[in-house]
Amino acid sequence: MRTRVAIIGAGPSGLLLGQLLHKAGIDNVILERQSPDYVLGRIRAGVLEQGMVDLLREAGVSERMDREGLVHTGFELVFDDRREHIDLQGLTGGKTVMIYGQTEVTRDLMAARAASGALNIYEAANVRLHDADSDRPYVTFEKQGESQRLDCDYIAGCDGFHGVSRQSIPAERLKVFERVYPFGWLGVLADTPPVSDELIYANHPRGFALCSMRSPTRTRYYVQVPADEKVEEWPDERFWAELKARLPADIAVKLVTGPSIEKSIAPLRSFVVEPMQHGRLFLVGDAAHIVPPTGAKGLNLAASDVATLYRILLKVYREGRTELLAKYSELCLKRVWKAERFSWWMTSVLHRFPDTDTFTQRMQQAELEYYVSTEAGRTTIAENYVGLPYEPVE
Ligand code: APR
Ligand code: PHB
Repeated sequence: MRTRVAIIGAGPSGLLLGQLLHKAGIDNVILERQSPDYVLGRIRAGVLEQGMVDLLREAGVSERMDREGLVHTGFELVFDDRREHIDLQGLTGGKTVMIYGQTEVTRDLMAARAASGALNIYEAANVRLHDADSDRPYVTFEKQGESQRLDCDYIAGCDGFHGVSRQSIPAERLKVFERVYPFGWLGVLADTPPVSDELIYANHPRGFALCSMRSPTRTRYYVQVPADEKVEEWPDERFWAELKARLPADIAVKLVTGPSIEKSIAPLRSFVVEPMQHGRLFLVGDAAHIVPPTGAKGLNLAASDVATLYRILLKVYREGRTELLAKYSELCLKRVWKAERFSWWMTSVLHRFPDTDTFTQRMQQAELEYYVSTEAGRTTIAENYVGLPYEPVE
């Protein structure tokens, strides 16, 4: 088998890149280890930056998002018994975010892929990358026990944090930057109406809490828990009681509870690998970087990597601009590090750390107070939250 771009992984990164390339007439094949149902079963984030919304429109997969997605013009920060509204739209010259679950984005991309007739190979086992640093890279895998070979011009490693792509690069070529946080997020999905029209991020002495949503009838709530916590120790009643305890009284009384339809604990990590490329292999999304979820940046960073690689490949195939390929990592990392900083900052000021003493608590309060009490501070939060501009590819 031969294709121009071999894409490893059919998460949002791989599917979106595949869709954009296919639409531009650049042939590609996606290899995914899991089944489509397994991929759709993962509950992830749900806040899309303007840049990602625009990219989904460009890819021709925005119809349902534009119909069902909720445009949010602001969010709330709660600390020290105060509720502070961050007016995203007013502070950024009109930018907003779209509430639309990653599962739905993935579902729409899968449908577009199926309709396009482009090749998606699910349940591809033992995917291996070969000769990425030569002019003739190829990928081998097994499908239903049979070995297959896919020759290509380029490989896009869109296979997430635990994928094979990053591991195929010789370790001495990579620099790893990492922080593992000493807590996780316990998340609950429920078919209940949202407690507020906007997302609420709360810093509380009992720990961080977040009120989010997927639609007017489906909510997603989180509470910070110790890193080694077991989800079995959190029956629904305990979760709802803990969430209410961390919210201001006027919000807590309005909270509508109900049976959870999903409940899981996610660890929090910051991670970046440099460079994000090796020969003809390009790492995209979670394969190259992880952010803690506090700024809702994970999926959005994956989208900006996809945009960068797509725009480079377009110029390579249409204009012969092969010199642009060497710039991929540098272009992506500029934006990656800024989003890493924002996610780390949001995490730092909103959570209780095991060593948070009374002094550190006052420092968090003073920092939040300083930011929200000035137009400059609020603008800094708002412009990062709606997403910094994509780096141009020229
Ligand atoms: N071979 C083939 N596919 C693989 C392999 C492998 N060896 N290893 C992993 N995969 C697949 C996974 O099964 C998964 O479907 O690659 C896909 C990677 O998808 P994600 O982990 O969702 O990563 P990505 O597409 O980069 O999505 C961006 O950012 O913060 C997050 O929530 C956000 O999951 C989202 C991610
Ligand atoms: C979510 O809805 O799952 C969500 C929203 C905002 C975040 C993280 C997760 O910062």
